[in-house]
Amino acid sequence: MRRANESTRLGVRPSNALLVRGARQIVTMRGPVRARRGAEMSQTGIVTGAAMLVENGRITQVGPASRIENLTQAKRAVEVDASGCVVVPGLVDCHTHLLFPAPRLQDYEKRIGGATYEEIAASGGGILSTVRAVRCSTAAGLEAAAARSLELMASHGTLLAEAKSGYGLETGLELRLLRALHRVSGPAEVVPTCLGAHAIPPEWKQDPDGYLAGVCAELLPEVARHKLAEFADIYCDSAAFSAEQSARYFDAATRLGFGLKIHASQFSSIGAVELAVTWGAVSADHLEAIEEADAELLARSGTIAVLLPASVLHLGLNRYAPARKLIDLGAAVALATDFNPGSSPTPSLPLVMSLACAQMRMSPAEAMTAVTVNAAAALRRAESAGMLESGRAADFCIFNVQDYREIPYYLGANLLRTAYRAGGPVFHQGGM
Ligand code: NIG
Ligand code: FE
Repeated sequence: MRRANESTRLGVRPSNALLVRGARQIVTMRGPVRARRGAEMSQTGIVTGAAMLVENGRITQVGPASRIENLTQAKRAVEVDASGCVVVPGLVDCHTHLLFPAPRLQDYEKRIGGATYEEIAASGGGILSTVRAVRCSTAAGLEAAAARSLELMASHGTLLAEAKSGYGLETGLELRLLRALHRVSGPAEVVPTCLGAHAIPPEWKQDPDGYLAGVCAELLPEVARHKLAEFADIYCDSAAFSAEQSARYFDAATRLGFGLKIHASQFSSIGAVELAVTWGAVSADHLEAIEEADAELLARSGTIAVLLPASVLHLGLNRYAPARKLIDLGAAVALATDFNPGSSPTPSLPLVMSLACAQMRMSPAEAMTAVTVNAAAALRRAESAGMLESGRAADFCIFNVQDYREIPYYLGANLLRTAYRAGGPVFHQGGM
């Protein structure tokens, strides 16, 4: 066995195998290759006294150290010393608006001064102020912004991230945002979502239906034709699009082959959950304002409930989504940052896990499930992400903790030591 930096000095042929050894726990998340529901969310597939062998970027073995360390390939492998640490799958952030050119500091101060998110939006701030910034940006500037966000997210363990458009609100600019997301090469893989129906742009204020008709007839077909997004999302709320408008959008998006997502019941409950379930949406996201009947509806459906507690915290609110109720009813719950410049400027899934545990009464095991396998399922990536199993790409994180429950417990601490994508290091605390 050789230490990572010894191979050249020893004059041995560099190996493309890695042996991860010494970890206190390897959180494999093994189990069904789909979103886990209800009580299944407590199963994390932790192994102790284990090692993991990676060959050519893929996991080939995870299991008892005594067996794996004696394999011939393991003896030739470069050693990754995870002593005293915990290994988890690369975290998956399944709801973000990571492509924004600048923070919204004026909105931030207005909110601290007492204005609500909706009041700020109604006065021309909010989403529309980021739209103005995007309209003045170059393609290169947008790509650089996306790369910065991805670096920041990976420094907290995110190796697969969804990213929404929605700050262009005209066909050319929405396409530019999605193209920037395709071109960016960062430490995390990106799954783009078209959110052309994020807000009503000022030039269409008098005719929201006209704007939506253009999104359905022009933007979505262009996005589909150039394969720029897998999902289509809409913001359904009293200050945005109605359930009836959202149904029109879902109809167009379904015909074009998009998976469906919806910003549902963030501030008001206007039928978004029912719509999501009826149309077989992959996920319904936010859900802070859902009613009992909607929770039951979701629990009986295949739609994943994606909860975004950091937006509640950042907006200074206290109504969190009813995670405990949803899980107890048997729903599949995922967690995400909602990383965006207005309601949730955090890139950290560990922080989101802390909020889920402390404020929504999810257990650390449920929170771990929610940012790995269930988040991957919310991106239709359960086959490739969110679990550590042989045959899968070696996307994993080594946290400087002795028990995975410390990840949510140490609120606000970044305990990530190293992150690997396809067996290659993409982040190391303190520099590569
Ligand atoms: O999920 N509420 C709608 N969209 C985002 C916020 C986007 C923004 O404020 O820029 C959300 O919270
Ligand atoms: Fe969002």
